[in-house]
Amino acid sequence: MSKAPIAIIGTGIAGLSAARTLHEAGQAVHLFDKSRGSGGRMASKRSDAGSLDLGAQYFTTRDRRFSETVRQWQTQGWVDQWSPNLFQASEGQLRPSADEQLRWVGAPTMSAITRGLLGELPVTFNCRITEVFRGERFWTLVDANGASHGPFSQVVIAAPAPQAAALLSAAPKLAAVAASVAMEPTWAVALGFATPLDTTLEACFVQDDALDWVARNRSKPGRDGDFDTWVLHGTSHWSRQHVDLPKEAVTERLLGAFAELIDCVVPAPEFTVAHRWLYARPAQGHEWNALADGGLGLYACGDWCLSGRVEGAWLSGQEAARRLLENL
Ligand code: FAD
Ligand code: NAI
Repeated sequence: MSKAPIAIIGTGIAGLSAARTLHEAGQAVHLFDKSRGSGGRMASKRSDAGSLDLGAQYFTTRDRRFSETVRQWQTQGWVDQWSPNLFQASEGQLRPSADEQLRWVGAPTMSAITRGLLGELPVTFNCRITEVFRGERFWTLVDANGASHGPFSQVVIAAPAPQAAALLSAAPKLAAVAASVAMEPTWAVALGFATPLDTTLEACFVQDDALDWVARNRSKPGRDGDFDTWVLHGTSHWSRQHVDLPKEAVTERLLGAFAELIDCVVPAPEFTVAHRWLYARPAQGHEWNALADGGLGLYACGDWCLSGRVEGAWLSGQEAARRLLENL
């Protein structure tokens, strides 16, 4: 085993899926993330209104390995089932839309999953990697402040495709694949009401002009707090069209669409927060699993290599780790 650790850029679910598997196989890893904490698009935001899921809302499992893993996470107390009173909107009309789908959320916050996976693994947060280059034997990473990190024996890049492409220049073929992936933005708005809204609705597939999805954040397990919190997502189309709209205007537009949709009076919220996800989801799914240049020791993974869902990101991380271990 090489003494130099493996660098993993990104502490979203893909990076941590790879990190855990490599660690369990006896490899030393070191993670980096430009954010203050782990989770990426699965992170929860702490706010005056409690914990908010501004990104991933829930996840489903179709793959057997992922299902088994999620059951283990349940045993560890990191996840719980969420069975909202579900609706669907059609031409502005709300219809109950109950189904049998098992939906999972991190508990008591979405971040509980990546925090649990991270455990005691070494990590450097607030560190945006801008360059990844290989010397004669080892890799060095350079961050946005010009500081160097290394040496590393291998590098796994677990960032959204456009950000990964910029870091893959040592392997131009992989960089070209990542650069070919278009990712769509999503505007997310959270609202907090001092008095609970007078509705039984807890989630709704809207998929209309502006609104894609609406969820009563507080209906998820463990999301207590003084406010009745809601999360609204804009559709990809609307979010792309309004990508540079100021946050106040986005909040006003999505709140207006929500008030029109929902079957109760919506007072002015006491609390609002808007967040723009520039790289929310790949415009289409792929079947790459992960990208690898085993000779160089450079790998890339993330939801964009598969389905653009939490499950796809986790599976992609598994595949990157598998390919890396195979090449040792
Ligand atoms: P990310 O979570 O994006 O992780 C990448 C990490 O890399 C980030 O933490 C980032 O900070 C870091 N990073 C990037 N560049 C650098 C750099 N240069 N240096 C250091 N660090 C860097 N999926 C579902 O299954 N169900 C849903 O309901 C759902 N809803 C969603 C709603 C929204 C609004 C969004 C945005 C996504 C949603 N998704 C959903 C998709 C799901 O969140 C993603 O598929 C999954 O979380 C992606 O994980 P990842 O690890 O591939 O990437
Ligand atoms: P899922 O199986 O619950 O939903 C998949 C899709 O099926 C939904 O988007 C919806 O169109 C439809 N659907 C499912 N149940 C329905 C019901 N009871 N009534 C009406 N329509 C229903 O979950 P899956 O496949 O795990 O997808 C995850 C969710 O994450 C999807 O809703 C997807 O749109 C969303 N997502 C959002 C992103 C964003 O950027 N806003 C990024 C990635 C995923």
